Amino acid sequence: MKAAVHTRYGNPEVVSIGDIPKPELGEHDVLIHVRASTVNRTDCGFRSAQYFISRLFSGLFRPKNPLLGCEFAGEVVEVGALVTLFKLGNLVFGYDDNKFGGHAQFKVIKESGAVALIPDGMDMEVAAAMTEGSHYALSNIRAAKMKKGDSVMVYGATGAIGSAAVQLLRHFGAYVLAVCNTKNTELVRKLGADEVIDYQTQDFTQTDRRFDFIFDAVGKSSFGQCKPLLKPKGIYISTELGKRSENIGLALTTPLLGGRRVLFPLPVMRRENILYLRDLAQQGSFRPVIDRKYALDDIVEAYRYVETGQKTGNVIITID
Ligand SMILES: NC(=O)c1ccc[n+]([C@@H]2O[C@H](COP(=O)([O-])OP(=O)(O)OC[C@H]3O[C@@H](n4cnc5c(N)ncnc54)[C@H](OP(=O)(O)O)[C@@H]3O)[C@@H](O)[C@H]2O)c1
Repeated sequence: MKAAVHTRYGNPEVVSIGDIPKPELGEHDVLIHVRASTVNRTDCGFRSAQYFISRLFSGLFRPKNPLLGCEFAGEVVEVGALVTLFKLGNLVFGYDDNKFGGHAQFKVIKESGAVALIPDGMDMEVAAAMTEGSHYALSNIRAAKMKKGDSVMVYGATGAIGSAAVQLLRHFGAYVLAVCNTKNTELVRKLGADEVIDYQTQDFTQTDRRFDFIFDAVGKSSFGQCKPLLKPKGIYISTELGKRSENIGLALTTPLLGGRRVLFPLPVMRRENILYLRDLAQQGSFRPVIDRKYALDDIVEAYRYVETGQKTGNVIITID
C-alpha cells in the first residue's frame, strides 16, 4: 500500500512516499481504507523526536514504526472474526498515537480502540480532524475541573487545541476570553469566545478580568506572566514544558502551596472520549476548524507548513 514513511528522526524531509505491506488483521480488528488524515503537532513531535522523551515510546535511535498520522477517517473494508461493533462499509474516524497509520492507504485498529462512526452529515476531511486538538483540549479542561460559570482565558485560541478548547469551554458554560492574532478575531468569536484580545495590538496581561483557569494552548506564555491574572485558587495549564522546562517542576510544587497552581496533565485517549466528542459534534457543539488541505504526495509541504506554528486549526491530508 502507499504510505508516507520515515526511517530516521529529523526535519520534514525525512518523510517520503513509499510502498509498504498492508497491515494484517487480528480477530478483534477492523481494517480501514483511509481517505483522510491530518498532519498535526503530535505527528511532528514523533517525527522530529525533538523532545527526547518521545523516543522512549517510538525508539531510542530510530523510529520502530515508519508510519505517522495519529488521526484518520475512512471506510471499514474488512472486520476480524470476533468484531461486533463495526461492519463493512461503516464510515469511521479515530485516533491512534500508539501505532499511528493515518498517513497510509490502510490502517488496522482494535474495535475497542479510539474509533467511532463519523457523525451524520460530516465529510471525511472534517472527521479526520475531530480528535487530536479536541482530545488535548478536553483532557486539560477536565484536569482543571472547570465549573459552569467559571472564567477561562484561552491563550492561543486558533491552533488545533485552542480552537477546540474555545468550543468545548463554551459548551461547558464557561465565560471565555480568547487571545489570538488580528486576522482570527472574528473566527474565534464565532467559535464561542465571549471576549477576544488581539495579541498584536493589546497586551493580554493588562486585562482587568481574573480567571479560574488560564489555558495556554500554544505554550507561549509563562506561569509568572499569568499568575497575577488568576483568582486565588486559579489554575494555569500550558501545552508546552515552558521556556526553561519549568512547567513540570511548577506542577509538582505549586499544588503543595495551596494558592494559584500549575497542572501538567498527561492526556490519554480512550474510546469514551471519542464517543463523547462524536456526541458533541452530532449536537452541533463542536466542529474542527480546517485550514489547508494537501494530498499525501505533498505531505512534506504539509509538515513544513504545520511547523511554521501558524496554522489555523487543522491541516488535512487526503489519501487516494
Ligand atoms: N503536550 C502534548 O502532548 C502536546 C500534544 C500536541 C501538541 N502540543 C503542543 O501544543 C501546542 C499547540 O498545538 P496546536 O496543534 O494546537 O498548535 P498550532 O495549531 O500549531 O498553533 C498554531 C496557532 O497558534 C497561534 N499562535 C502562534 N503564536 C502565538 C502567540 N504568541 N500568541 C497567540 N497565538 C499564537 C497561531 O496563530 P497566529 O500565528 O496567527 O497568531 C496559530 O493559529 C504546540 O506547541 C504543540 O507542540 C503538545
